[in-house]
Amino acid sequence: MRILVTGGAGFVGSNLALTLEQEGHEVTALDDFSSGHFDNLCGFKGNVISADVVDAVLEEIVPDTEAVFHQAAITDTTVTDQYRMMRVNVEGFRNVLRFALKKKIRLVYASSAGTYGDGKNPMKEDQAPKPLNCYAFSKSVMDNIAREIIEKGSIPIVGLRYFNVFGPREKYKNKAASMIWQLSEQIKEGKRPRIFTAGEQKRDHFYVKVIVAANLRAMEAKKSGIVNVGTGIATTFNRLVEILNQTLKTQLPAEYFGNPYTGVYQDETRADTRLAQELIGFKAEYSVEDGIKEYLATQSSKLKSQNDNSKVKNKLLF
Ligand SMILES: NC(=O)c1ccc[n+]([C@@H]2O[C@H](COP(=O)([O-])OP(=O)(O)OC[C@H]3O[C@@H](n4cnc5c(N)ncnc54)[C@H](O)[C@@H]3O)[C@@H](O)[C@H]2O)c1
Repeated sequence: MRILVTGGAGFVGSNLALTLEQEGHEVTALDDFSSGHFDNLCGFKGNVISADVVDAVLEEIVPDTEAVFHQAAITDTTVTDQYRMMRVNVEGFRNVLRFALKKKIRLVYASSAGTYGDGKNPMKEDQAPKPLNCYAFSKSVMDNIAREIIEKGSIPIVGLRYFNVFGPREKYKNKAASMIWQLSEQIKEGKRPRIFTAGEQKRDHFYVKVIVAANLRAMEAKKSGIVNVGTGIATTFNRLVEILNQTLKTQLPAEYFGNPYTGVYQDETRADTRLAQELIGFKAEYSVEDGIKEYLATQSSKLKSQNDNSKVKNKLLF
């Protein structure tokens, strides 16, 4: 199939684009490189288009597209420029949706667990949205727009409410990268991992392979809808520190500091996973422990090959 991945140079988008390509699809990655990075697409053989998803004329740029995975968004939840956030996330989505409707093709898009705010757990798709920031609000507006199309049955459309994803190719998100990335970087630098007091905040963290698998399922789903993607298990930040210390063979205790986002912070997120199973036949297969082990092993093998390469380069130079 000819597939468009918006936000294709980003964390999830690049993992998805590379997997779709491995599976034999012809993939185009579109990105404005605001939080994405070319390095994420090293080895990608498909087409890469640098464009703003808000006003890209997709009918002209990628006329033969047969399915779209829409990942492009401002993903830093602390961005306070509401016009920019709404323009990129909502109007960007509307542009992609317009294109999918015109071409009558399938659209799978990234929503977020942020839409639930501090709602009750486990978070269920039919509970009222309670966005605590403009990012989460933009995602709930996207879901409202999608719901109208789903009701009309115009095209197959699946919204995936991602919980907390971690894994390779997230580092260019910097401060918006996962807690697992932030804490592991601190530990690797020999610093104590810094978490909000008293570390009992919980998140439904899952490995990036899980989200790629969920997107692939959504591509084949018989029904349209908006579903959670999570494991159904929430892990505390204290437990993350424990797992990271075990995996990295370190013993650095957490350093606690006050949460500056009190009042607009999700203390716990945990997905109700039943609808995803029912609608797109998806269940997460990785535990957070296994995901972290695989993630850190990938990082150390990448580091080893970088070191080996630089040794070869040094030999050539001297
Ligand atoms: N990673 C998570 O834990 C998580 C959780 C919930 C939802 N999501 C959603 O998943 C999607 C992918 O997020 P991610 O984690 O890969 O973040 P990311 O920031 O790495 O990816 C977003 C990509 O969109 C691109 N982009 C931003 N504005 C654009 C524009 N105007 N035109 C074209 N491209 C633009 C960025 O350059 C980036 O490559 C996003 O929609 C995000 O809201 C992610």
